[in-house]
Amino acid sequence: MRVWTLLGQLYNEKGGQVNSVDLLYCCCGCFVFPGFHYRKFTQLPHLAGTEQNLKYAEQIKKEWQEFGLDSVEMVPYDVLLSYPNKSQPNYISIVDHLGNEVFNTSLAEPIPDGYENISDIVPPYSAFSAKGQPEGDLVYVNYGRTEDFFQLQREMGINVTGKIVIVRYGKIFRGNKVKNAMLAGAQGIIMFSDPADYWAADVQPYPDGWNLPGGGAQRGNVLNLNGAGDPLTPGYPAKEYTYRFGLEDGVGLPKIPVHPIGFHDAIHLLKNMGGEIPPNNWKGALNVSYRIGPGFTNDFKSQKVRMNIHTNNQVTRIYNVIGRIRGAQEPDRYVILGGHRDAWVFGGIDPMSGAAVVHEIVRSAGKLLSKGWRPRRTIIFASWDAEEFGLLGSTEWAEDNAKLLQERAVAYINADSSIEGMYTLRVDCTPSLHTLVYNITKQIASPEDGEEEVSLYESWHKKDNWTDDRDAPRISKLGSGSDFEAYFIRLGIAAGRARYTKNKKTERYSSYPVYHSVYETFEIVEKFYDPSFRRLWAVAQVRGGLIFQLADSPLLPLDANEYADSLRKYTQSIKQLAQRHQDKMEIYKVSFDSLLSAVQNFTVAARDFHERLKTHNREDSLQVRIVNDQLMYLERAFIDPLGLPGRPFYRHVIFAPSSHNKYAGESFPGIYDALFDIENSADPEKSWEEVKRQISIAAFTVHAAAMTLTPPA
Ligand SMILES: *[C@@H]1O[C@H](CO)[C@@H](O)[C@H](O)[C@H]1NC(C)=O
Ligand SMILES: *[C@@H]1O[C@H](CO)[C@@H](O)[C@H](O)[C@H]1NC(C)=O
Ligand SMILES: *[C@@H]1O[C@H](CO)[C@@H](O)[C@H](O)[C@H]1NC(C)=O
Ligand SMILES: *[C@@H]1O[C@H](CO)[C@@H](O)[C@H](O)[C@H]1NC(C)=O
Ligand SMILES: *[C@@H]1O[C@H](CO)[C@@H](O)[C@H](O)[C@H]1NC(C)=O
Ligand SMILES: *[C@@H]1O[C@H](CO)[C@@H](O)[C@H](O)[C@H]1NC(C)=O
Ligand SMILES: *[C@@H]1O[C@H](CO)[C@@H](O)[C@H](O)[C@H]1NC(C)=O
Ligand SMILES: [Zn+2]
Repeated sequence: MRVWTLLGQLYNEKGGQVNSVDLLYCCCGCFVFPGFHYRKFTQLPHLAGTEQNLKYAEQIKKEWQEFGLDSVEMVPYDVLLSYPNKSQPNYISIVDHLGNEVFNTSLAEPIPDGYENISDIVPPYSAFSAKGQPEGDLVYVNYGRTEDFFQLQREMGINVTGKIVIVRYGKIFRGNKVKNAMLAGAQGIIMFSDPADYWAADVQPYPDGWNLPGGGAQRGNVLNLNGAGDPLTPGYPAKEYTYRFGLEDGVGLPKIPVHPIGFHDAIHLLKNMGGEIPPNNWKGALNVSYRIGPGFTNDFKSQKVRMNIHTNNQVTRIYNVIGRIRGAQEPDRYVILGGHRDAWVFGGIDPMSGAAVVHEIVRSAGKLLSKGWRPRRTIIFASWDAEEFGLLGSTEWAEDNAKLLQERAVAYINADSSIEGMYTLRVDCTPSLHTLVYNITKQIASPEDGEEEVSLYESWHKKDNWTDDRDAPRISKLGSGSDFEAYFIRLGIAAGRARYTKNKKTERYSSYPVYHSVYETFEIVEKFYDPSFRRLWAVAQVRGGLIFQLADSPLLPLDANEYADSLRKYTQSIKQLAQRHQDKMEIYKVSFDSLLSAVQNFTVAARDFHERLKTHNREDSLQVRIVNDQLMYLERAFIDPLGLPGRPFYRHVIFAPSSHNKYAGESFPGIYDALFDIENSADPEKSWEEVKRQISIAAFTVHAAAMTLTPPA
């Protein structure tokens, strides 16, 4: 309560209720936020493992100290990174029958105005690609999704063994595309950005608009880590003394060359392709036929495609910056706000639009500290390194501190890019945070023009209504693809993320057009995405509001009833998925009764828990601590120490990144994966036994979690 009182005194001219959201309004809304730190941290490329990213880390450390945090430290790890060879560039060529390279893809993106003299812009590449110079016929496989390869192999009857696969970017995480190509037997994979997926209608390419220019390409790692962190030290922090696997045993490293290109180059590779014309949903927006191959048309039959990839893996030092505010009453309870600092180039959107928000929240907290405020619980701020190389900095720190975190962490809020569109708020979080997110957004003003009197909640509700489930703004499941992964899915810490996003119904492009290209500059946000910076500021208020309320509310603002609602929903949908095979469920005696019973038990336990809280003695600090511990440990109760099949670091029984798309979240992932493609199983009995095993694990875990909400004695 003290924070409200203090702010009431400080800002009573505002009148009415004053809370931490107003604090952010006052501290970061007024003068500094529109651009100062943000511009400062986007002027130079700062790839993980480079001198410049260390310099930014040192600067952040110094400034967080000046802002008044109790402590700030640099925490290094030595992890496997991957860089192109500066003297031997990566490219793809078309080779004629004499072996001459008659076409080569570009070696770099055209540099945007104002940045011409900047060195150290890493050219587009696929981090952790295998080295090699495979040569062969191309096969076009749409987005390279599991279903695209199924269609190619099962319906079109094409075998990609020994071929080079070309796929368009979008829909799923690029690492999944690479894995699918490898499993299908391809000897290399090329990924291109198609305008159908990276162009918004009626928008010019950068710098006149925010679309991806034809010479732009998407960098990115192509690992399949499944939450392992550093590929050479899975499970343990990558310290100097830590045992390292050899590269051949590294986790998730692709065995084939991989390379990204823009659509100017893609046209040259695609335009002469032969083979069948694909279905319409395989066609992008380029003026080519999108024939699937293999290889070129008759006139060009003798030409092959060659990939020239010389990228090197290299153990490199990275640096997290960790700042703390010691909690006044419960110093042993941690609320964490973390986001990455490393960028592919300037990081104009990803991640600095998020890192600038963290910087402002730290500054606001420092200001409050100087007025005598101190949160009830400890707040930890983190500037993670090497997120782009597989969430490495955040995962190593989670491994380093796993014992402390599993005993003490209340919640983890992620702060990657603050903006990927101009439409409305997007929140992905654990169900127990739904209510807090709604309450906070009701107290924040909409950043949109003409909505001065409207709350962020109302604006968001109007634009993204959750209708089929409830009349409230939509909140989604957490997938992966950013630094909350180890905290939520491995350690079972309540987690959430918030950002401004596009209109999913009308804007079909993936992520945002210039994603991971050199055109992600400060100017693209200042000119197009958020000229007033009001959208960034609204995101700052949501992220900061979550942190301040989680750290300062005497009773933890976590809602077990929301978890119960979500579990009921997920149970219905996984049951419906299974019931597509009603006949097999009968033959193999598959039943969801145990899971339904467990979810019912959870529902009752959650309802009774919150009922008891209404008459709970809030003056008795020991009693408050007892129920807060039940709330904090609820998320932990969903962790299965054995992990999911084949994915030991994905241990959350309710949520995991989809096995087919790391970006997406899957509920009851163990059951889902057991059911996947079960109609084509070579051994149906064995497959259905696995479904039964997974249902029983889910039922046990949900019931066990329900027990943690019952009265202690
Ligand atoms: C980079 O390429 C050069 C020129 O081919 C070669 O001499 C050097 O060994 C390569 N560097 C690495 C680290 O592989
Ligand atoms: C492609 O690059 C290779 C190696 O630098 C060079 O020999 C060849 O002439 C280039 N081809 C074209 C069409 O530029
Ligand atoms: C780049 O360097 C050249 C030569 O030093 C200079 O004339 C030019 O103004 C510089 N451009 C920018 C944008 O700084
Ligand atoms: C694909 O071709 C490879 C080599 O030609 C062969 O070994 C493999 O069995 C084929 N796969 C299928 C599914 O036909
Ligand atoms: C599309 O490509 C064909 C063949 O290269 C060409 O004749 C036609 O003019 C192109 N159309 C457009 C709209 O560029
Ligand atoms: C959301 O959808 C429900 C059901 O269609 C409707 O009753 C409600 O008015 C909608 N809410 C908003 C804010 O549009
Ligand atoms: C749900 O609770 C009832 C009553 O305690 C119990 O008999 C049943 O086994 C529980 N369900 C599961 C799946 O544990
Ligand atoms: Zn990012």
